[in-house]
Amino acid sequence: MKYFTTTSAASRRAGSCVIVGIYERGRLGEAATDIDKASKGLIRHHIKRGDLTGQLGSTRLLTSVDGVKAQRVLVVGLGKVSSFGINQFRKATDAAISALKSGKVADIANYLTLEDVEGVSPYYLARYCVQTVGDSLYRFTEMKSDHRDPPIALKRIGLALRKKGDASKVMRGAKHADAIIAGMTLAKDLGNLPPNICTPSYLARTAQRLARENKNLQTRVIGETEMKRLGMHSLLSVTAGTVLPAKLIVMRYKGATKQAPVVLVGKGVTFDAGGISLKPGPGMDEMKFDMCGAASVIATITVVAKLKLPINVIVVVPTCENLPSGTATRPGDIVKSMSGQTIEILNTDAEGRLILCDALTYAKRFKPAALIDVATLTGACVIALGHHRTAVMSNNDKLADSIIDAGIAADDRGWRMPLAQEYEHQLKSNFADFANVGGREGGAITAACFLSKFTKGTEWAHLDIAGTAWRSGRKKGSTARPVPMLTELLLQRAGALP
Ligand code: BES
Ligand code: MN
Ligand code: ZN
Repeated sequence: MKYFTTTSAASRRAGSCVIVGIYERGRLGEAATDIDKASKGLIRHHIKRGDLTGQLGSTRLLTSVDGVKAQRVLVVGLGKVSSFGINQFRKATDAAISALKSGKVADIANYLTLEDVEGVSPYYLARYCVQTVGDSLYRFTEMKSDHRDPPIALKRIGLALRKKGDASKVMRGAKHADAIIAGMTLAKDLGNLPPNICTPSYLARTAQRLARENKNLQTRVIGETEMKRLGMHSLLSVTAGTVLPAKLIVMRYKGATKQAPVVLVGKGVTFDAGGISLKPGPGMDEMKFDMCGAASVIATITVVAKLKLPINVIVVVPTCENLPSGTATRPGDIVKSMSGQTIEILNTDAEGRLILCDALTYAKRFKPAALIDVATLTGACVIALGHHRTAVMSNNDKLADSIIDAGIAADDRGWRMPLAQEYEHQLKSNFADFANVGGREGGAITAACFLSKFTKGTEWAHLDIAGTAWRSGRKKGSTARPVPMLTELLLQRAGALP
């Protein structure tokens, strides 16, 4: 995709299509006012006849408009003037792209960026716009046998400017968004691939390919023999029921000298059947998404590499399957983690924390400035926060705040949940140092509590993305969250934001 900026009036801009907005009750947006004047009232005429309502997300394509240079004018509804904000801007942009994506339009100039979106700078407006376009154009057709899906014609996206001086910030926003979209596409693809293809070895090969494609990325893959040597018996207990080999993927990006890295750890369970504590049948296919944490951190480090940010980042991904079999771990088994702490496994379906704890212990060797794990960890998190917000738990207020703020700026929001001592007694075990489950109450928090036993002395945050990583139902598919949130955090730490 190519990006450009334009300061010419909508009516004067040649090309395939200009996108302009109108509000409800006959209020025209900036560019719509211009088009209306140039066309001697065509837009108002349509409004009067009731063909244009301004309802949020409604679209109408006008072609060969007299007095307008562009071949097409797409009029998008922006809703009520009083409630126009970033959500409405994204919805309107999404609707515009949806209306155009099956057609032949190769270049568009988006004039919605001229509207007032309170508190949003030109840089972010450009980013939201390009990110929304990328999100909206995503398709997953790799597994379809008929490839008749027509290719997407859209090649160039123009962003209208209020003043010339904004051009460099807007282009920077577009460039960042373009890299984020590439990362999100990777994360979505990995999530959407079926579990018979996206296996632990497939994830490892993907990480190695990414290192070949990005000279500033390094990948190392640790196999089960070395895991044993390292004492990762907690991780190994989860993979005991499957014939597929587990992997520990380590990716490194060095953009700065002598600076402690941010270490991102992602849960990579490529299929979670629950193990001997088998899950119920309905919807079990969705447990192929149990590697979305892994996908998101692998994607994030590729965005950082693509943008060559002056910062150090390391990714650690423990990946395996969780299946029942005669060799699988039993409820009641006790294992020793790499940290030396022993764990009584009371429920083999609480496997995420069992692989993460060894990965977190391993990650400590990099002396991270911040350690962040990302995991589809608990159904309880979905009950607590639904599908809108990622749960954020941390042993450090500053880190937690910066993650929450990054989520707001990137429009990929989180919500902080407590990580407090009161919950710890729920993990008590009569036989080992502690158990791997803490009962139904506060399940997302006790899971974080479990992980906190492996991150003492390190600035650490845990993101539970069980509710946000994928959609169910008719729109079933990976969302690539929290790639925008994580990249925002790293852009900010690298000082790359305007
Ligand atoms: N991968 C699941 C969590 C999950 C479930 C995410 C449903 C999204 C939707 C995780 O491994 C799991 O099974 N967690 C258990 C923990 C419990 C046994 C303490 C859960 O949430 O039921
Ligand atoms: Mn599970
Ligand atoms: Zn799981």
